[in-house]
Amino acid sequence: MMRLWIRAAAVRRRVICFWLLLLGFALITLALIDHFSQDRNHSHQNPGPPRRPLQRIPSAPDLDVIVDPWDPALELGGDVAPLESLQEDQLLYVPSTQGTKSLQQRKGNYKVILPSVSKETTVHASRTHGATETEVGQRLKETDKDLELSAVQKYGLNEVMSGRISLHRRLPDTRHPECLGEQYSESLPPASVIICFHDEAWSTLLRTVHSVLDTAPKQYLQEVLLVDDLSSHGHLKSVLSEYVSHLDGVRLIRSTKRLGVGGCRSLGVSRAAGEVLVFMDSHCECQKGWLEPLLERVAQDRTKVVSPIMDVIDWQTFKYNATQWPVRGVFDWRLDFHWELDPQLQHKDADSAVQPVTSPALGGGVVAMDKHFYHSVGGYDPGMLLWGGEQVELSIRVWSCGGSMEVVPCSRVAHVDHHHLPYSFPDQEVLQRNKIRIADIWMDAYRKIFYRRDTLAHFIRQSESPNITERLRLKRSLGCRNFHWYLTTVYPQLYIPQDRPALSGELYNVGTGSCVDFPRVQGLQSRVMNVAPCSGTGSQHCDLNSDSEVRFGPNGALCLDAEGKQVVVSPCPKQRPTSSRLQWKFIKLSGQLVHQLSQLCLEAVKDGEIPQGSTGGLFLRPCTHQPRQQWHFEQLVAPKGA
Ligand SMILES: *[C@@H]1O[C@H](CO)[C@@H](O)[C@H](O)[C@H]1NC(C)=O
Ligand SMILES: *[C@@H]1O[C@H](CO)[C@@H](O)[C@H](O)[C@H]1NC(C)=O
Ligand SMILES: *[C@@H]1O[C@H](CO)[C@@H](O)[C@H](O)[C@H]1NC(C)=O
Repeated sequence: MMRLWIRAAAVRRRVICFWLLLLGFALITLALIDHFSQDRNHSHQNPGPPRRPLQRIPSAPDLDVIVDPWDPALELGGDVAPLESLQEDQLLYVPSTQGTKSLQQRKGNYKVILPSVSKETTVHASRTHGATETEVGQRLKETDKDLELSAVQKYGLNEVMSGRISLHRRLPDTRHPECLGEQYSESLPPASVIICFHDEAWSTLLRTVHSVLDTAPKQYLQEVLLVDDLSSHGHLKSVLSEYVSHLDGVRLIRSTKRLGVGGCRSLGVSRAAGEVLVFMDSHCECQKGWLEPLLERVAQDRTKVVSPIMDVIDWQTFKYNATQWPVRGVFDWRLDFHWELDPQLQHKDADSAVQPVTSPALGGGVVAMDKHFYHSVGGYDPGMLLWGGEQVELSIRVWSCGGSMEVVPCSRVAHVDHHHLPYSFPDQEVLQRNKIRIADIWMDAYRKIFYRRDTLAHFIRQSESPNITERLRLKRSLGCRNFHWYLTTVYPQLYIPQDRPALSGELYNVGTGSCVDFPRVQGLQSRVMNVAPCSGTGSQHCDLNSDSEVRFGPNGALCLDAEGKQVVVSPCPKQRPTSSRLQWKFIKLSGQLVHQLSQLCLEAVKDGEIPQGSTGGLFLRPCTHQPRQQWHFEQLVAPKGA
């Protein structure tokens, strides 16, 4: 009796400890949120040191560091170039006058200078006082560290590094050799390249424009339309207007209100004269010969929407990294887009190196389509705000309403992958609202699968309804197919979760009060599983299906697995029947989750008790009735919900 009482007391103590921990966690979260929101306020109201008032600088400017992208050290000691333009608060651009290069190379060779950064003055002062070039170089390096940091904060990329690189740099040719021999039709339809930007860095924006001008054959390039989505940075105002006015075939359009990606691109379309629309992000660099293969595919079939292979430019170093082939675009049940390497596509066909690959979705970086087809399938959804989700929406719509999508391997464009700051990109609720539109317009009953994996969207949806009348009318009038057709015909590789009641949800452990969590790194190897505080967001959702697999991940492609006593996730097999190693049985009465092959039970282990040489907190142990072997599948969204 006494022992029982002591046991009960111990359990109660544990429960109290758990609640105290939870309380502590909540307090810390509140404190952090408070901290961040204060930070955010701070950065809005006080963006760095106060700017200098506008001044027109007479012939000998006192702020000028012209950095030649080809040889920085050389120009630092050279003569000061004449100042060509100084218009607004932030930016000067100065043509490089260094001797040996041809006029062709020099054209557009500009360096951004931030006059308000006081340290730049330091560099200048020391030069005046006869410092050696190495000293200047050294100090410039230190200055750059600070500049780089603030640029990363501002743009999500290292704009200082980007500013050192020529606006005309050529990417190494990584096209497959067979692409070089490809013949394209003589009469391809001309393209309007639409580049929307909002507070883009100067060098990345202008390098995008120049790379289009430098690589697209004149006869196929109707125009480049630069669309300013209400930027606030000074350098994108009259300085940009003046710069663009000297560029042949480039037009600048400014919006008077914030439109977001879809709206901004639509504005571009309304002014576009070309037969084919090419939407391009404002931080891209085109590979030689990128345009013709895209135009060729669209000319052959006007309902095709095509994308180049998107190579990657590192946001920190601006190094170019070629993407492997074959690759295609997909999305998961949280409606997030990914590029997916698909080796299976390669085995099918030895000549596939130059053959376009059908793609269930395409990213927004660069996408080309016929202008009439764009209009006939309803443009971009005007109900979508800012950015996020518009490419997934376009993809489902194009496929469902009579078009198709593919990646064209002989066309390559590189894209700067931004460094995503934890609390600035993207605006979460905007993203969720856009996804809600996709789910409610296009996914029929399958939308429940999305809402279970994104509970924030679910709760937003419960308190407000999107106005989707127009889009549903469009869907009906175009006779678009349903999402079941899309899943079975276009994207049969996507696993369809069963999400059975009491056998799906967060996998909650009674003994530790935490939930099974999986590592968020992509890759083909198996990964150690762990327990973590229950997120409540749907990110820890799993699904015990009728094949006895416990599937994790936004596309349900990770299976709960065991290596010895260690519990891991590994990629689920593509074929039925599944491996017996991946089969689990849930005993509702005891809450035990039994690994079928070993007949051992899933047990959560507390941090301090993890065996030496192991990581993670989940193990297979002989079955007992202790709480750390007791599990519930906690459904966050009622089965009938949404
Ligand atoms: C943050 O800014 C908003 C308006 O911009 C203001 O109402 C609020 O008081 C500010 N909060 C703090 C902590 O400064
Ligand atoms: C290039 O990308 C591959 C994966 O796509 C990565 O493994 C590799 O480290 C990258 N290289 C550089 C230099 O970033
Ligand atoms: C929804 O939008 C349509 C036009 O797009 C409008 O006519 C209708 O009044 C709107 N409905 C609501 C409930 O706001």
